[in-house]
Amino acid sequence: MMSASLATVSYIGAIILFILSLGGLSNPESSRRGNLYGMIGMAIAVLATVFGPRVTMAGLPWIIGAMLAGGSIGLYAARKVQMTQMPELVALMHSLVGLAAMLVGFANYIDPMAALNLSGAEKAIHEIEVYIGILIGAVTFAGSLIAFAKLSGKIGGKPLLLPGRHFMNLAGLLVVIGFGWQFMHAESVSSGMTALTIMTAIALLFGIHMVMAIGGADMPVVVSMLNSYSGWAAAATGFMLNNDLLIVVGALVGSSGAILSYIMCRAMNRNFISVIAGGFGSGSGKPAKKADGEAAPAGEVLPVSAIETAELLKDAKNVIIVPGYGMAVAQAQHTVNEITKVLREKGVNVRFGIHPVAGRMPGHMNVLLAEARVPYDIVMEMDELNADFPDTDVSIVIGANDIVNPAAQDDPTSPIAGMPVLEVWKAKTSIVMKRSMATGYAGVDNPLFYKENNRMLFGDAKKMLEEVLSALKA
Ligand code: TAP
Repeated sequence: MMSASLATVSYIGAIILFILSLGGLSNPESSRRGNLYGMIGMAIAVLATVFGPRVTMAGLPWIIGAMLAGGSIGLYAARKVQMTQMPELVALMHSLVGLAAMLVGFANYIDPMAALNLSGAEKAIHEIEVYIGILIGAVTFAGSLIAFAKLSGKIGGKPLLLPGRHFMNLAGLLVVIGFGWQFMHAESVSSGMTALTIMTAIALLFGIHMVMAIGGADMPVVVSMLNSYSGWAAAATGFMLNNDLLIVVGALVGSSGAILSYIMCRAMNRNFISVIAGGFGSGSGKPAKKADGEAAPAGEVLPVSAIETAELLKDAKNVIIVPGYGMAVAQAQHTVNEITKVLREKGVNVRFGIHPVAGRMPGHMNVLLAEARVPYDIVMEMDELNADFPDTDVSIVIGANDIVNPAAQDDPTSPIAGMPVLEVWKAKTSIVMKRSMATGYAGVDNPLFYKENNRMLFGDAKKMLEEVLSALKA
């Protein structure tokens, strides 16, 4: 067993490694190193906790048993889960952090040892920790479960906008504060438990309601917001357990998640309050209305073949590739890299345009392109590239939809109005690769498909790109 001072030193080492890990993850080139720091930090943290002074010999078999069970489930999930299912897995994991905070809070309140020597201000602080810990935990738990269901398509992306929902949220908040007061002044554990249980039920309903009210297009912000909540839930658990490492790590996750939410809001041109108020984006994956339908965008859809696409690419000087969620589904990134290599050998200037919310999780496209070894220096952010489309011969959209939808700029009534998009239609020719006329995640029609200079290459992105590649090599 470890001495208290060795455990403290190990905790400090782990904290430094976690900070280095976050720093590393901010750039694709250093992200592998960042991950490694995180893994070493976590190993040190777990060892210092399990063999630290606060675990007794009698408790060790329980902990090892739980670690074996949890580790096996984690290993199984990591092997089985597809890259495209990562966002929902992350949402599910956030829900577990929330559940842990809730359970620790209740256990801490019931445990007669936890508050044995506490009185006055110390007792009040302990009770506030328990109350707030359970509150954050319950909101995170319920909200993340709904986010999981939405991201995995188990429930629709359409926002549930109940009448008087803001009033309901406000009333819920007031009731939670009221029961908090009652909890702090409870005469016995059982009356305190009643207040805690009612507050937990309200917090769970609030978590469900909050994420149900959010439309498909705002899900990126919600995913990072729940990430932040899970950090604060972990920090609250740290307070309840008197564990400094958990407090610091929770605060790191909480604040980096909050910064990410802010970046996402800016990327979507939304403010945080309107995201929470809900209702942006309508559904997901529905077929677009027919061209002759009332609300359908005007124009004709012009298909193109893989061979014609290859011809257009061969004649181009400047090409911009815009990948989206469909590239992840088709696992087309390696073929995209092959095509990029062939074109660059022919002297074509190829660059990639990455939208901040492309795919289903922050950095999704960067991860896939890095995996396929696309050079980092030709992978650009949306803002770096948007002005260059008018000088571009061909823009190729690979399985993207919402992030290249001109309605965001042209149609103030569109559910995604105001969201910045990659202006692919400004290139001489744009080519969209997708399987059908279905809408993207936000469930919104895309007028790009009907533009005069746009061509549609219908089919699975990987299959189509392989055909383009062999035509390019021929
Ligand atoms: P989407 O708008 O979802 O469009 C993806 C398109 O890919 C679909 O229209 C689909 O059309 C096509 N596709 C699917 N499988 C394909 C395949 N095998 N081959 C070829 N095409 C395929 O994706 P996007 O443009 O990347 O935009 C991202 C959306 O997700 C935004 O609305 C964003 O708000 C949301 N979102 C993002 C995140 C983060 S953090 N990035 C998190 C949650 C939600 P077909 O079915 O016709 O093929």
